[in-house]
Amino acid sequence: MRPAEYKMAEGGFGNGNGGAIPGNLIVAANTESNSDYIWSVKAAGLPVHPARIPAALPETFIKFLTRRKDLVFEPFVGSLTTAAVAEALGRRWVASECMLEYVLGGQHRFFKRMAA
Ligand SMILES: C[S@@+](CC[C@H](N)C(=O)[O-])C[C@H]1O[C@@H](n2cnc3c(N)ncnc32)[C@H](O)[C@@H]1O
Repeated sequence: MRPAEYKMAEGGFGNGNGGAIPGNLIVAANTESNSDYIWSVKAAGLPVHPARIPAALPETFIKFLTRRKDLVFEPFVGSLTTAAVAEALGRRWVASECMLEYVLGGQHRFFKRMAA
């Protein structure tokens, strides 16, 4: 029994995996093929970032490691995924990205799609 009162299985860390990298710790589908971000960025004639991460990834760590109003720093923000998640969770954020067009596209994460 661990201090947080969860129970570890006998030998739970005892498997000999020959140094293999463990399986995923966070499982999150990257199914953003029809998102507002993509729709909006394409409509603006900007490139869709080719290596976006699922929002569940920064969301997990922001919730785990920060409180509301804390400052989240993302040095490789790309399409602003981490920034949008941080803002939605009530955190302040600062980010850097070397490709201006990705930031210009990423700002669309903060726009609401206009009703037709
Ligand atoms: C894997 S992508 C990040 C994608 C981002 N998490 C998202 O969901 O859109 C890494 C980003 O780091 C940027 N990058 C690479 N080197 C950089 C540097 N030295 N300073 C700032 N940004 C950099 C790349 O342009 C790229 O957009």
